[in-house]
Amino acid sequence: MSRSAHPAGPRHADVLPEGHPSAPPADLNHLDPKVWASTVTRTADGVVSVGGVEVTKLAEEFGTPAYLIDEADFRERARAWRTAFGADADVFYAGKAFLSRAVVRWLHDEGLNLDVCSGGELTTALSAGMPADRIAFHGNNKSVDEIETAIRAGVGRIVLDSFQEIVRVAHIAQSLGKRQRVQIRITVGVEAHTHEFIATAHEDQKFGIPLAGGQAAEAVRRALQLDGLELIGIHSHIGSQIFDMSGFEVAAHRVVGLLKDIRDEHGVELPEIDLGGGLGIAYTSDDDPREPHEIAKALHEIVTRECESAKLRTPRISVEPGRAIVGPTAFTLYEVGTIKPLDGLRTYVSVDGGMSDNIRTALYDAEYSVALVSRTSEAAPMLVRVVGKHCESGDIVVKDAFLPADLAPGDLIAVPATGAYCRSMASNYNHALRPPVVAVREGEARVIVRRETEEDLLRLDVG
Ligand code: LLP
Repeated sequence: MSRSAHPAGPRHADVLPEGHPSAPPADLNHLDPKVWASTVTRTADGVVSVGGVEVTKLAEEFGTPAYLIDEADFRERARAWRTAFGADADVFYAGKAFLSRAVVRWLHDEGLNLDVCSGGELTTALSAGMPADRIAFHGNNKSVDEIETAIRAGVGRIVLDSFQEIVRVAHIAQSLGKRQRVQIRITVGVEAHTHEFIATAHEDQKFGIPLAGGQAAEAVRRALQLDGLELIGIHSHIGSQIFDMSGFEVAAHRVVGLLKDIRDEHGVELPEIDLGGGLGIAYTSDDDPREPHEIAKALHEIVTRECESAKLRTPRISVEPGRAIVGPTAFTLYEVGTIKPLDGLRTYVSVDGGMSDNIRTALYDAEYSVALVSRTSEAAPMLVRVVGKHCESGDIVVKDAFLPADLAPGDLIAVPATGAYCRSMASNYNHALRPPVVAVREGEARVIVRRETEEDLLRLDVG
């Protein structure tokens, strides 16, 4: 159907954001494998299933909204990263993207390590049996308690983020009679091509110690002098949802440059570098992410080349993908509540969740896609904005998308690629109850994070 034949008329072209496909997809019932988890399919009766279970059954049993995670897909992606990087590199899954005890066990089974950035994530990891030496502890302002807990537990590394922290961690380690393995996080001055709030390697921001002006070199000098620390490497994370490898190339070049300066000044070749996470995923059919083996090959080549020209032994590389592992493995299932056509503009479709289960659209202007999943439809496409039930007009889940014009209250719709930074950034705004995470695999579904209840809310309200 052409855009001009659309029920709401040609003005649709004006309201579609730049870069968004101006025409509806040829087949609204089609599920693009780029954005849906690998076991997602439509059954013969038109209902979408994941892990062999139909979404109508999942909605009946677990309610909506709900995050549905495809366990087989998660494991496959984790394994693909592990295999791509091989035995002489380490993959640390970034727990901030989504962490639960089941996820920790899957990661452990698949041979991945874990990056945590708070006492809460550390406790979750340890309580699910992740060996402490496979955990890296991050954060720009770790508390004394968090540092002490991490050192006592025996975490494999703490990533130091400031001059104060160098001294703080050294002091705590020494008082516990330990020598803590650490990396220093530096900012390499790269402008990553991503949203400002998720770019992290330019100098004007809170993370890391700038390479510029010799600050990183000074941090290394101090760390090498402190008995409580064993400096094992340099860390750089340039940002998130990045498709272009050139930022990593510049980062690797500058990190290796620092390793060379350290060798020249101190006679020490640090054995490790961590290039962080940040690899982009497909949120809509327009995104073209790279495969883990391409990323691994590119990073290995860059680092090897840089080290050869600096006459350094190639250090052990580690990476910290979060989104690229969990993002594509889950979708959010919603029930349609109300449908409001606005003449000449678009149709507002309200669902039973919203910015409390997916803040990314409001916060980063993120783009998502959406599909009708409880049935197929041959109706004409209508331009919709999928919105939540919160008291705020910015409560948008999917800014611009097409759904069939016969959409009705009670239909189930799903937003794919919500595995990363949706449940982990979910809130109780308007006293919403955070949705459950349900893992589905080989015809079986089980709750791995249960739905919040009003009792949970009242339990915290002790006034
Ligand atoms: N390593 C470090 C040190 C990080 O700070 C992060 C993400 C990662 C790894 C993992 O990045 P990933 O591979 O998942 O992109 N809430 C934002 C993303 C913030 C990312 C923060 N750090 C979003 O929803 O896009």
